[in-house]
Amino acid sequence: MTLWHGRFESSMASSLWHLSESYPFDHVLYHHDIAGSRAHVQGLVQAGLLSVDEEQVLLEALGEVESEFDRGVFVRSGADEDIHMAIERRVTELAGATGAKLHTARSRNDQVATTLRLYVRDALVDVAGRVLALAETLFAIGESDPDRYLPGYTHLQRAQPVLLAHHLGAHAWALTRDIDRLLDTRRRLNVSPLGAGAVAGTSLPIDPGTTAALMGFDRAFANSMDAVSDRDFVAETLFDIALLGVHLSRMGEELVLWTSAEFGFATLGDAFTTGSSMLPQKKNSDVAELARGKTGRLIGNLTSLLVVLKGLPLAYNRDLQEDKEPLFDSLRNVVLVLDALRGTYESMTFNGDVAARAADDPYLAAIDIAERLVQTGVPFREAHELVGTAVGSSIRTGRPFRDVVAETPALAAFVDVFAPRETLQSRRSRGASGPVAWPNQAETWHRVAADLHRRLRELGADRTEPSA
Ligand code: ARG
Repeated sequence: MTLWHGRFESSMASSLWHLSESYPFDHVLYHHDIAGSRAHVQGLVQAGLLSVDEEQVLLEALGEVESEFDRGVFVRSGADEDIHMAIERRVTELAGATGAKLHTARSRNDQVATTLRLYVRDALVDVAGRVLALAETLFAIGESDPDRYLPGYTHLQRAQPVLLAHHLGAHAWALTRDIDRLLDTRRRLNVSPLGAGAVAGTSLPIDPGTTAALMGFDRAFANSMDAVSDRDFVAETLFDIALLGVHLSRMGEELVLWTSAEFGFATLGDAFTTGSSMLPQKKNSDVAELARGKTGRLIGNLTSLLVVLKGLPLAYNRDLQEDKEPLFDSLRNVVLVLDALRGTYESMTFNGDVAARAADDPYLAAIDIAERLVQTGVPFREAHELVGTAVGSSIRTGRPFRDVVAETPALAAFVDVFAPRETLQSRRSRGASGPVAWPNQAETWHRVAADLHRRLRELGADRTEPSA
């Protein structure tokens, strides 16, 4: 029997039932739905719609239902269409007649919006904590041996030598912006829709501000129709995760390249690689490939929700139920990738000799020679041409670039740029990759990371424990 059987003469067709039930995926919301109901009950008492005794009975029943879920013994009944109806049905079984008052001045429309905001609010902070852990791992790897270097690439062509710390740091900085975005989304979503009812509010004397405060929201909605139909916060979350996924995917692609025999810059730990069912010699970077591959669905989930939302008339429409599976899928998968990728980096051996050999390619010092010329007063375009001519002659004749430079009168004074690490050493501009500029970046990083930790701590979540 459904909660609305009063108006209907026949029961729901089974094909509609299977289409419409959301319990199989929305039962994960139980904890947050019960938190919302607790606040709602207290709000009803304040409004004079429930007695203190009834409050007691309902809060006890809600506690019992939560415990049944926690212990994995909650039994769904045949008519429980979604998590909200399952909980209300069970509360009514436990609380008897009082249970029938739980849904006073509430619709599933404001209820589901409230529950989902509470759920996403926690999830955003959880994801942000994991992103920070990954970013800090990247930075720590760089700082653990700050002398290591590799070629920096543009167009995947060797361009200039860069420090490994600087290279990994580039990913870490992108991740700090992802964290910032997640926390920003949290701030904007922290508005309570509870009390909006089905669409237009209620004639009963509830105060949405009271329940908003009880649930830790910054304030209550201003417009009931907006409150029940707004899923901006889900779309923003899916965007934040999709962009985070794009960053993780680029990192994954890079690990695939680095661990190939062609690059040979890195080796991953056995625990984070897989073998081949056929080829005995294979050691595959599957984590990195899945970091890249999973991003397809993260982007797809965002697209899927935006398409659901784009044609909806105000206010609640059942289409909105389609917000949940993309959301849960993105949250689950990005967490899987974040944790596995962190472990993968921790297991990584950076093959510094191989990378340094690639970075010591003399052509990568060409710009440094040009810049030395500039320091002697030669206009940059002229310097570029002089060095370019030397590069061209080296390539055409097959003579080492270093020899050509040494034999070119205008350039011979600068052969010291070919000394190992010299180009890194002489690069001093702010934010540049080299040991002189590095301490400034590291100091800024530690300040930003400490600030992110503080923000996460204030939100009750700071995840610093190492990955398993
Ligand atoms: N499971 C539904 C959802 O996810 C709950 C709201 C149902 N409301 C309604 N009027 N049918 O949106």
